[in-house]
Amino acid sequence: MGHFHPLLVHLPIGMLAALAVLELAAFLPRFKNAAASAGFILALAAPLAVVTAVCGWLLSLAGGYDVQLLAWHKWLGTATAAGSVLAAMFFWRGEFLAYRVSLFATAGVLMAAGHLGGSLTHGSDYLTQYAPAPVKKLLGIASTKKTSTPVSLAELRRQPVFAGVIVPLLENKCVRCHGAEKSKAGLRLDSFAALQAGSDDGLMLKPGNAAQSPLVQRLLLPADSDDHMPPAGKPQLTAGEIALLKWWVNAGMPETNTLDSLAPPPEVLAVLPAR
Ligand code: HEC
Repeated sequence: MGHFHPLLVHLPIGMLAALAVLELAAFLPRFKNAAASAGFILALAAPLAVVTAVCGWLLSLAGGYDVQLLAWHKWLGTATAAGSVLAAMFFWRGEFLAYRVSLFATAGVLMAAGHLGGSLTHGSDYLTQYAPAPVKKLLGIASTKKTSTPVSLAELRRQPVFAGVIVPLLENKCVRCHGAEKSKAGLRLDSFAALQAGSDDGLMLKPGNAAQSPLVQRLLLPADSDDHMPPAGKPQLTAGEIALLKWWVNAGMPETNTLDSLAPPPEVLAVLPAR
């Protein structure tokens, strides 16, 4: 039932936001009847908000989310559901001032809850990640994102293999679910130490033995297997990228050695220009 949360959540959001706007408009004489259907909207929005919050609570039990973000999102989401019920109750008792105050307060809390929910699912920099530089500047966001400038193959071969080729691969295809904000199965793939540490279930990579490494095994499972990584529907590794990872694990998971010093076989070198 938890998986219904991202589907349902947009209904109470839209209804509560629309109701708040209608109530604001109703302050103007010209639109004084704008909120005439408020009772109807509340009768839909309040129960939906409660069901959505319950589904969200269930979804949170799956774990793997940034603990602090999740805690805030949970409480603000609960407050949104409680606020909508409160607003509905005041409305039906005819206490219209209290109704409007709780509606506007709920709409404010809703915005914060929604923003945190977006950060949980998409990562906190999702919205502004590709924003034009002037917009970023306006919002006071430093361009901290490492932009990978294209390097020549010769240059790449002189870089440490981990930073040069393994990190970008994992960043692209794995870290959105196995990083600081989300770490599914307790597994993080965003640093060398994390790769060595493995997951809640133990070691995921055995240096020198790709075939016995659960992480590599998962990449090699049929795409429709439940255990296949990345999960179905997400950007997949190419055959070349899998070959690259396998080679790196079999080479003993070197961190600082340069690519050249490890003398990679031609099929691995052939993958690199594709980057
Ligand atoms: C869309 C989210 C998502 C992406 C992207 C993703 N994973 Fe996962 N991963 C999960 C989830 C959810 C689980 C836990 C469920 C399971 O075990 O299948 C998991 C589990 C794992 C496990 C098992 C951990 C254990 O304790 O048994 C490994 C290994 C793994 N992922 C590796 C990867 C690698 C390598 C990539 C990138 C190539 C990747 N994942 C990309 C969501 C993702």
